[in-house]
Amino acid sequence: MQLSGKVAIVTGASTGLGRAIAGRYAAEGAAVVVADINDPEPAVAEILEAGGVAVGQRVDVASEDQVTAMVAEVISRFGQIDVLVNNAAVSASLKQQPFEDIDLHEWRKVMDVNVLGVFLCIRAVTPSMRARRSGSIINIGSGTAIKALPRLTHYVASKAAVHVMTRSLARELGVDNITINAIAPGYFLTEGNLGNPEFLALQRDIAVQNRSIPRDAYPDDLTGAAVFFAGDQSRFITGQILPVDGGSV
Ligand SMILES: NC(=O)c1ccc[n+]([C@@H]2O[C@H](COP(=O)([O-])OP(=O)(O)OC[C@H]3O[C@@H](n4cnc5c(N)ncnc54)[C@H](O)[C@@H]3O)[C@@H](O)[C@H]2O)c1
Repeated sequence: MQLSGKVAIVTGASTGLGRAIAGRYAAEGAAVVVADINDPEPAVAEILEAGGVAVGQRVDVASEDQVTAMVAEVISRFGQIDVLVNNAAVSASLKQQPFEDIDLHEWRKVMDVNVLGVFLCIRAVTPSMRARRSGSIINIGSGTAIKALPRLTHYVASKAAVHVMTRSLARELGVDNITINAIAPGYFLTEGNLGNPEFLALQRDIAVQNRSIPRDAYPDDLTGAAVFFAGDQSRFITGQILPVDGGSV
């Protein structure tokens, strides 16, 4: 129970890596807010059935008003926010393509959700974290931004922005005892990736071959790092980007 007494918001937690993180946080004793643009209730029900504490919040992280309202609701319900995991992103649905072919609408959507959304959520939670001089922010970046995966330029650029925001905000938030770190996952077999057969065929075998631990990665492989950055064991670690990829980077 490494997160007993903590309140954690996990964005994009209806499915995939976010759902696994939310479930593990609840199992570690946190009260979890499952925040997603899609129905959060099945993920909430799963946590409640396992004996955990969770509530759902419908939110578009790219909407300033919705993010502000979500944070106000969480504070009125729980009185505090200890952990924010910025996991929501446009990712699994994207098609690899030459950079000249990327549609500008899609480019802006990726930047809105993956970069502006992270900024808005951080900006909304920090006043209450600052007031309590305590908080852990975990951004989900990507190994693609370290390795420079081609043919997904908007996504890779958005995740590089997340990594650099993590480092620069660490220098702004540390004075108030707030840590901010990023996890850079490798290629995981989430529902979203399994539902994108074209990308799966391109990435799965290459990802496994490039790993020091040459096997597929599943959402449960990521949750330990997310618990570490949310808990007291990492209280003097900030501004770091941790690849969780079986030793690929
Ligand atoms: N799965 C991987 O292999 C992998 C690898 C590297 C990085 N990542 C990153 O990990 C995170 C989770 O990945 P995943 O594969 O589970 O993704 P996913 O696409 O399966 O799930 C993303 C979740 O975010 C939600 N979401 C999307 N837009 C939103 C918005 N505007 N507001 C609120 N919620 C929104 C979706 O509804 C969904 O529940 C993402 O940040 C992704 O970029 C994933």
